[in-house]
Amino acid sequence: MPETTPQTTHGLALREGGFARGPVPQVPHDLSPFLEWREIALPPLQSGQVLIEVIMAPVNPSDLFFVQGGYGQPRISGNPAGFEGVGRVIAAEGSAATPLLGRRVAFLGTVTGSWTRHAISDAALCIPLRDDLKDADGAALIVNPLTAIALLDEVRAQKGNAFILNAAGSQLGRLILGLAQDEGLDALAVIRRADMAEELQALGAAEVLVSTAADFPARSQAALRAHKPRVLLDAVGDQGAADLFFAMPAGARWISYGKMSDDAPSLTQMGQFIFMDKRIEGFWLSRWLPAASAERRAAVVAQVQDRFATGRWHTRIAAQLPLDRALDAILPALQGGEGKVMLCP
Ligand SMILES: NC(=O)c1ccc[n+]([C@@H]2O[C@H](COP(=O)([O-])OP(=O)(O)OC[C@H]3O[C@@H](n4cnc5c(N)ncnc54)[C@H](OP(=O)(O)O)[C@@H]3O)[C@@H](O)[C@H]2O)c1
Repeated sequence: MPETTPQTTHGLALREGGFARGPVPQVPHDLSPFLEWREIALPPLQSGQVLIEVIMAPVNPSDLFFVQGGYGQPRISGNPAGFEGVGRVIAAEGSAATPLLGRRVAFLGTVTGSWTRHAISDAALCIPLRDDLKDADGAALIVNPLTAIALLDEVRAQKGNAFILNAAGSQLGRLILGLAQDEGLDALAVIRRADMAEELQALGAAEVLVSTAADFPARSQAALRAHKPRVLLDAVGDQGAADLFFAMPAGARWISYGKMSDDAPSLTQMGQFIFMDKRIEGFWLSRWLPAASAERRAAVVAQVQDRFATGRWHTRIAAQLPLDRALDAILPALQGGEGKVMLCP
């Protein structure tokens, strides 16, 4: 524990505040118009807040939308970016926060972001970590793992036990596949790259459908007939997703939870909403978290840690970048690698 609490830190700070004026791409061409490496003043801790010495923080697709001003919450100019990370609590304010002093926690960047040497977060949203959990799993413990569990709750709430999952080779997709297999749910995994097919089959996909393959239309039709999936978990949001949805049976739900494609789909069969009771809806962890009961959240957090600690889940790392030199290195590392890019102060 440091003898004095730092008053300033260094991090990747947002250059602009608020929202972008129009739509932004999933991946920007350059991060330097949006972020700068600089000294950041740390505000005094309020009751219920903790100061965290950051160990590692991932770059998630949501971070890239957020820094450009295209995410569901406004930017605060001068604040560090980064939605989640892992670190050690070095100061705490108030009785709700002090039990976390000295603990290694997974945290959400609720006051400052996580792409900084020191972050401030709400103690209520910090997860004290088991000792047997790796730092990388702790760094990516909240955004994707909690979403995987919440999305499978949605699948179970629907008739049948099959669902379609696109971008299935993503970190979140892989978590969903493993969990689905353990829960007896049939995941029809849609991917772009054929070289991933065997790996995803081994992770638990009931079928792997390669959208770029010539036989995709025939194979997907056959899989739809055989499994009758009634949920499409969609992280892509392109015409391919729309076409799959319109081929699904009556009562199907299209749950949009990500927008990896910059293309916009056309809705070609509006009658299906009227005559086949089909629905399009969105999922956002930021809405799920406050709505879940404290008991449900505690159970999910325990389940998530257990799955990582026992090796049933695993965080793949594409690159670990020193935080002070990350600004120009993040986008090349994302392009070249498979897995999460981690920022390490
Ligand atoms: N709504 C929520 O609360 C919530 C919470 C967590 C995550 N998410 C979303 O979940 C998604 C996955 O997150 P992640 O961290 O697991 O991502 P990730 O590991 O970075 O993987 C991204 C995936 O997207 C695929 N992809 C990229 N561009 C694509 C395109 N144009 N068409 C089809 N596939 C494309 C990539 O496929 P290739 O391997 O073929 O390149 C890769 O599998 C993201 O959209 C993220 O925003 C949403």
